[in-house]
Amino acid sequence: MSRVLVTGAASGLGAALTRAFRERGDQVLATDVADGADLHLDVTADDDWTAAREWVDEHWGGLDVLVNNAGVAGGGRIDVAGIDEWQWIVDVNLLGVVRGCRTFTPVFKRQGSGRIVNVASLAGLVHPAGMASYNAVKAGVVALTETLGHELAAYGVTAHVVCPSYFRTHLLSSLRGADEALRAVMTHLVESSPLTADQIASAVLAGIDAGDEVILPDPMARAAYGQKLRDRPAYDAQLRRQAARLHELGGSTAE
Ligand SMILES: NC(=O)c1ccc[n+]([C@@H]2O[C@H](COP(=O)([O-])OP(=O)(O)OC[C@H]3O[C@@H](n4cnc5c(N)ncnc54)[C@H](O)[C@@H]3O)[C@@H](O)[C@H]2O)c1
Repeated sequence: MSRVLVTGAASGLGAALTRAFRERGDQVLATDVADGADLHLDVTADDDWTAAREWVDEHWGGLDVLVNNAGVAGGGRIDVAGIDEWQWIVDVNLLGVVRGCRTFTPVFKRQGSGRIVNVASLAGLVHPAGMASYNAVKAGVVALTETLGHELAAYGVTAHVVCPSYFRTHLLSSLRGADEALRAVMTHLVESSPLTADQIASAVLAGIDAGDEVILPDPMARAAYGQKLRDRPAYDAQLRRQAARLHELGGSTAE
């Protein structure tokens, strides 16, 4: 039985991961900035992370798995999205994960064991037009996780990054931004996905158990990343076509 902390656990993938861990007998501290979790934890708030660590120390005396899942949707073409949108998504989707890792790495080092599971996105590996800020922060989470995997291996700590393609959740309710064309595209991609959060969660647990450092939990993610590695010209051509469709939707500059 593992002791697991999940962020962003009130909805979507975080809720599905919480269910999946609990179903196999693990103990889960479900945290979120929204109502519906066991503990209030805003991943952008240092004090909330300190309180989470105190809770874990007091009630469990340690932690086995940290799941940095909380995230928001953002994006927008480079001449449309404002710098305030960039700062917001960096703070939640990248620095939120950094804060979690910084909070619990001392615990894991002291124990000589622990697993860090960071939820990035396929967007951290393949980078569609119109989504620069989301792509960049998720690529940052991919890089952070690989770095920690190397840095902490000698302490018995493993790091895993999760890179799903689109699946149906409430993610788009968090979407901020001035780029309405991008909003239309992202909404369509999430709402038309055949994948559920429970399917992704089940594949994530299998990936962690298998020791996968990069978890591509669905066929579309595996195909898209595989194409980028195998056939870069075809990948570029496809993403240029997607960019052209975004342009057709209009509103290319903020002026
Ligand atoms: N849904 C998708 O298509 C998709 C694809 C790839 C990656 N992801 C990633 O999966 C993760 C989970 O998203 P989801 O799709 O389940 O969305 P969701 O909106 O259903 O759930 C996200 C949860 O994170 C919480 N959250 C937001 N800001 C927070 C903060 N500052 N502190 C703590 N909690 C906060 C929200 O309250 C919500 O409960 C995110 O990191 C997202 O980027 C989602």
